[in-house]
Amino acid sequence: MQVPADPFDPKHFEAVRRPLDEASTMPPWVYTSDEFYRREVDRIFMKVWNFMGHIDQVSKSGDYVALEFAGVPFIICRDEAGTLRAFANSCRHRGSKVAIGSGNTKEFMCPYHGWCYSLKGALTATVDMDATKNFQQSDYGLIPINVDTWGGFIFVNFDPSCESLQSYLGDLPDNLASHRLENMANTRTVEFELNHNWKLFVENAKESYHIAVVHRETINQVASVYSADYTVSDTAGQYCTTYCNHDGSMALLKEDKGFPKIESLEGRYQTGTYAPMIYPMTYLACTIDTAWFLQLFPMGPDKTKLIHGACFPKDRLDRPDFEEVAANYYKRWDRTIMEDIEAGDHQQVGIASPFAQSGRFCFREPLVHQIDNWVLDKVLD
Ligand code: FES
Ligand SMILES: [Fe+2]
Repeated sequence: MQVPADPFDPKHFEAVRRPLDEASTMPPWVYTSDEFYRREVDRIFMKVWNFMGHIDQVSKSGDYVALEFAGVPFIICRDEAGTLRAFANSCRHRGSKVAIGSGNTKEFMCPYHGWCYSLKGALTATVDMDATKNFQQSDYGLIPINVDTWGGFIFVNFDPSCESLQSYLGDLPDNLASHRLENMANTRTVEFELNHNWKLFVENAKESYHIAVVHRETINQVASVYSADYTVSDTAGQYCTTYCNHDGSMALLKEDKGFPKIESLEGRYQTGTYAPMIYPMTYLACTIDTAWFLQLFPMGPDKTKLIHGACFPKDRLDRPDFEEVAANYYKRWDRTIMEDIEAGDHQQVGIASPFAQSGRFCFREPLVHQIDNWVLDKVLD
């Protein structure tokens, strides 16, 4: 299906805007068009709180990580006083990246002409700039970026006039209070390359319709849509969520041994799995014994990087059998993520066909419809 000349005209999306049982799926070109992707960068990724991993990655003063998100290079670091900071990774001289990779440092020295910046972003040293008139080092610090944390997770917002992270998340922290995410350690991250649009992965993560087919031998054995109760909860905040009541841990294959239940869990969280998707694309899943995150980096209309992060209550790491038991969880995640990635890669090829058209939703896909409408609210005029 061709991208229309006026892709942001609401008339193309009238059928997506209808109630779920009358709605059509998104036009296929929203998953393939450069123009649609650039609009998402401008109106979504540059405006919202984007998830940037776990604070264990920058736990000590001087720790830093240089990242790139939706084409924007930036640095997250912890300064001498222990304050978490983020800066645009663009030298104030002639624009080079000043930090590469990750590590621990006292300062950032630009690899091009050697300008030096402190962990607070101040320009502290330059070479041979004495002949440059009206040049004050204090005017040329790294550009700060909003950074904040919740539950041990880091978020950045590229919009200087954004709302607070607390207001963005709404009642999510209250809903997850008894999981005590802030007491968890991030024990492993694994990176995957997806040959599909970020929305396809997010939609997949928030619907149960595919479980019986894609995860027939894995998740379906623990919590099928017929044995478990997948329900959508109301939210007050920029996220949507499901809660699924089922026996055991969602993060293990049926026969495998796991850790004990998280002792602090209360109410419905003592059984089953609460799985919020913080808009636009951060998936968290909190089950009875662990939590995990899926962090997406959009790289273009049909390329996305995925990082899977595993989190366990910190005291589990003291157990002599920690690695052995954790391996059961890692095996389950690696297997099911590949099942989802393969599904998304097949979908991208099919949806890019000139013969692809909008389809219809199943009642098991309410959050796909909700996510698509959230995107449209942001990108349409
Ligand atoms: S571009 Fe960084 S010192 Fe020249
Ligand atoms: Fe899946």
